[in-house]
Amino acid sequence: MTIDLAALPHDFLWGTATAAYQIEGAVAEDGRSPSIWDTFSHTPGRIANGDNGDIACDHYHRWREDVSLMRRLGTNAYRLSVAWPRVVPGGDGAVNAKGLAFYDELVDALLEADITPSVTLYHWDLPQALQDRGGWPERETAEHFAAYAAVVAERLGDRVTHWTTLNEPLCSAWIGHLEGTMAPGWTDLTAAVRASYHLLLAHGLGMQAIKAAAPHAQVGIVNNLSTIHAATDRPEDLAAARRMDGHTNRWWLDPVHGRGFPQDMREVYRVDLPEQPGDAHVIGARLDWLGLNYYFPQTVADDPSAPAPFVRTVRRDGVPRTGMDWEIDASGIEELLLRLTSEYGPRRLYVTENGSSFPDVVRPDGTIDDPERRAYLEQHLAACASAARKGAPLAGYFAWSLLDNFEWAYGYDKRFGLVHVDYATQVRTIKGSGHRYAEIVRDHQGRA
Ligand code: NOJ
Repeated sequence: MTIDLAALPHDFLWGTATAAYQIEGAVAEDGRSPSIWDTFSHTPGRIANGDNGDIACDHYHRWREDVSLMRRLGTNAYRLSVAWPRVVPGGDGAVNAKGLAFYDELVDALLEADITPSVTLYHWDLPQALQDRGGWPERETAEHFAAYAAVVAERLGDRVTHWTTLNEPLCSAWIGHLEGTMAPGWTDLTAAVRASYHLLLAHGLGMQAIKAAAPHAQVGIVNNLSTIHAATDRPEDLAAARRMDGHTNRWWLDPVHGRGFPQDMREVYRVDLPEQPGDAHVIGARLDWLGLNYYFPQTVADDPSAPAPFVRTVRRDGVPRTGMDWEIDASGIEELLLRLTSEYGPRRLYVTENGSSFPDVVRPDGTIDDPERRAYLEQHLAACASAARKGAPLAGYFAWSLLDNFEWAYGYDKRFGLVHVDYATQVRTIKGSGHRYAEIVRDHQGRA
């Protein structure tokens, strides 16, 4: 498939993305404390095959090789996350010099390789010590996040300009506290709504802290958004789709654009928000950029017996699916980029994650051909370029993921990498999709 990328700017960030708990391993090394994901993954029955992140891709020891892989892919950016329990093991208080040093060295190596680091401060690994004090449903967690953000920004802010406060707070709040299939594994609407509030407060306070420490920082937030369609034209299903849009999209977008939490959703949840004077202003401070993680569209129907927002998802027949059983529909990424542009007027947009999992087969010669992942990548990049042609201020794309890694509750069975990881040997092999990505990046940079 040929992709017309001419509408993408010459300084476009072509990246890959990972997250600390999914790749680092070394969970008890150099002063790192347990996070809620260590606890969750070691709780029997929570993760497929009883997998955990203890070793993962052993990136903590193999990061030099991983930076070389990025070079081989020709990427000019890399989105990583910092593990809070490495840097401030108690959640608040003492800073762990060894934890900070790890990221410091990694950032230097990236810059040396002409790769722009994009640093996410929270990709779900809350220090367990803070969970033991109540976790995200408590306001103090947001305050501790801001202090931790300041520590990292003070150390890296002279070299890192691209910062993300939170990755997919929807997952932390709704999946972690309402659906219960991610850490900390609760099913409590009140806790979930309070967590959502404090996460967005943490974003606002964190943004202030980063900017105070690093005045040139460009700070954004990363949300996983989805296009939501009603299963039928019945008024009940149309209303369900509106609620699901509120739950998935507007609850996370409106407050950070100074519009407050959507009134219709407050009425759906019927949980008092732990608001304090001044919070809305902090949460709604102008973003430098907005990050979109896009994977699949959703179709929903009304279901009063389901937990809030009282919908059930409906399978569309005949739509192709990934190995996660997620629908493949690249039109969703274009629709979302254009919607964000027209409804929220971002200064810049980044696709901070997009990718697919398929069962990979390693051929006898050690190579991996993954035509489905390659097609997914091409279709979604074409849709991104189309959005840019129509005016979306798209400034970068980060493929999920650089490496196969620990896919949360699904464990290691689900592989999203452009690079295959043999977990028995930790050997990394660039897949066909990785080679294709390298070619696309080269073509675009060649014209720049
Ligand atoms: C989004 C999350 O940020 C990432 O951690 C996860 O692995 C991918 N989606 C794929 O599910």
